[in-house]
Amino acid sequence: MSGKPVAIGSDHAGYEMKELLIEELRALRREVLDLGCSGPESVDYPDFGKAVAAAVADGRAECGVVVCGTGIGISIAANRNPSARAAVCHDETSARLAREHNDANVLALGARLIGTEVAKGCLRVFLATEFAGGRHAARVAKLGRQ
Ligand code: RB5
Repeated sequence: MSGKPVAIGSDHAGYEMKELLIEELRALRREVLDLGCSGPESVDYPDFGKAVAAAVADGRAECGVVVCGTGIGISIAANRNPSARAAVCHDETSARLAREHNDANVLALGARLIGTEVAKGCLRVFLATEFAGGRHAARVAKLGRQ
């Protein structure tokens, strides 16, 4: 762990879960860089996925968390940044493997698909799991190339 903040962002569908995950991050004594949205009013998920990816890419944050209704749209937006490896996770196993095999640096969650306790579990595991390296390293390196 670098001690840098965790960047977090959501659209309106993910807003309530984002706020709960911020509480969880603070309970874990992690600094939080909250990039919005700031309420339940309708917004566009690409704006927040891109903002979190940019914070990870430019080093303001160690990693990111993005939340929308499904986790899909906001992860696609984050992954437009070539430095981002955003993974939609639905349980602790997918969160662990996203870190171990893919060196994912953005955790994407679907607030309309999973419950808050599952989301918190994904977050804890994502933060606690190191990239396994080894045979996965060359494959992850290829993700950054066209
Ligand atoms: C918003 O209604 C919804 O489309 C969005 O949160 C997300 O699920 C898109 O992928």
